[in-house]
Parts: sequence; C-alpha cells; structure tokens
Amino acid sequence: MKRQVRKAVFPVAGLGTRFLPATKASPKEMLPIVDKPLIQYAVEEAVAAGVDTLVFIIGRTKNAIADHFDKAYELEVELETRGKTDLLQVVRGIVPSGVECVYVRQAEALGLGHAVLCARPVVSDEPFAVILADDLIEEDAKEGGALSQMARLFNKYQCSILGVERVPKEETHKYGIVHPLPFANRISNVDDIVEKPKPENAPSNLAVVGRYILTPRIFDLLQTIPRGAGNEIQLTDGIAALLNEEQVLAYEFSGRRHDCGSKLGYLVATVEYGVRHPELGQQFQTYLRANAHRLDEFAPAADA
Ligand code: G1P
Repeated sequence: MKRQVRKAVFPVAGLGTRFLPATKASPKEMLPIVDKPLIQYAVEEAVAAGVDTLVFIIGRTKNAIADHFDKAYELEVELETRGKTDLLQVVRGIVPSGVECVYVRQAEALGLGHAVLCARPVVSDEPFAVILADDLIEEDAKEGGALSQMARLFNKYQCSILGVERVPKEETHKYGIVHPLPFANRISNVDDIVEKPKPENAPSNLAVVGRYILTPRIFDLLQTIPRGAGNEIQLTDGIAALLNEEQVLAYEFSGRRHDCGSKLGYLVATVEYGVRHPELGQQFQTYLRANAHRLDEFAPAADA
C-alpha cells in the first residue's frame, strides 16, 4: 500500500538570537510577515499538502505558539459581540477543522536532529514532513506550495525527499549541501550531504532549505549518530546515514524562498508580501513609488 505524508514536524525550540531583542520572550517563528506569523505560513503550506497532524517541537518561551493555534474564547466572544465577523473567521480559521496540533517539549537545545527525534512518539512509523518556518517559500501559481510539490513526488517514489535550491557558492557554509546525481528534471539522487561546508569543500551549490519529507528510519539513525557540527545532533548527519540505506531524492521546488532567519531576508519578504497584500498592497505600492527617490533623504549614503 502506498504511504502518504500526514504529519508535519515544526522545530520551533531555537533561541532566535539573530533577532534579539524581538525574540527575547517570543519565538522567532511568531515574527509576522505583514499580519501573519511565519509559523502560520508554514502550517498553511503543510495543510495544503494534505497534512492533518501538526507536531510542534517547542522549548521554553514558546507558549506563544501553542496559544496562537489554540482556541481563543474571550477574543472570539469579543469579536462576535462587536459584529466583527470577518476577523472572527480569520481567527477561527487559523487551524482548519480536522487538523490536530500536538506539542512536544524539547528540554535541551541539542540541535535540529534532536528536535526531529523528539517527534518520534507522535510520528511513530509513518513518513513525515519537517518544515523550518524561517524559510518562507512563496506558493507557485501553477505547482502549489513547496511541500505540496514534494508530497506529490513522495506519492510517486515513496522515499525521502529534500527541498533544495541553488545558492551562491560563497553561501554554502549556511546550509546542508548535497552531492547530486542526475535523476530527472529538477530531481537528483542524493549521493552525499554535508552540513555547512566551506565553499572549497562543498560537493555542489545545491542547498537544503527547510523542507524535508523523511521516512521513519531516520529516527533510528538520529538516535545512534554522534554529535556533529556545533556539538549538536545534526539532521544532516542523520540524512547522510539514511542515504547509505535508502534512496534519498533532492527536489528543486518552484517558488521563491525568503530566508527569514536573516534580518535582510525578513525585510525583503515583508516588502514583497506587503506590495501583494490584498488590503494594503495598492497603498503600499503607491507609497513606495512616490518615495523611492527620497531614499537618500531617509538614509543618506555614508560617503555623502
Ligand atoms: C538548518 C540545517 C541546514 C539547512 C538549513 C535550512 O540550519 O541544519 O542543513 O540547510 O537549516 O535553512 P540552520 O539554518 O538552522 O542553521
């Protein structure tokens, strides 16, 4: 029988140090792009791909995420009393009916591989997705969200699939980098994978960017591999062990990715989602067009 991806794991226990002080008391995944937190974009992508169980791996100070996906009785009553039906629908629709949220506490920050391993009691022996919410990927008009595209591939090949993107060679040290062997259009067989190699040691410039579909065999391997880069249990090392046993594919998805784990990527995403926002987009475009020539006034060039 063909297996399907029904569960998605969202590791959200990181400290988010790059965004301090904004992330001192609130997780980075709650940072909004215009009016929706990053984690909600990730959840919507997963649900669109057919996922019905959302597994959040949370740390300390992550209650905001559970609160966001929980029912908000007082808020709903207030919106109802004030007749704000549009907003009421927005709030009620955050978790579509039939979708379940599960929270697992990661007591120690031992790395991404360890965070994924924490999901084992919930995922058990099913294939599952992992989404890193700070990689925000725009939905492709024709092919749908990145995870939907990967889920379709999984249905066909029934093996682990890594979402990948070409990055400038000088940026390989920020990503898991695969060594690809040709397989099909935009799909490679993964022959090797290395966590954050220097450009001169990188096996290619094909980087894993926060979307994974994995078979449950990864759990056994994550349990046994030694700690890797940064003295952490690396998901990349688990995948390197997995590809000795099973086929692993790398898939170049369609859809623009924004690295919202960096402040610049976050700002760019805010502007790009802002100009397309259904309510604000037109006004924001008008503002940007009218003020582009005043950039020097807002921020004089350093050598001026
Ligand atoms: C993690 C993974 C890395 C992957 C990246 C994608 O790194 O360890 O392999 O390429 O996410 O965003 P992090 O960005 O958490 O340092």
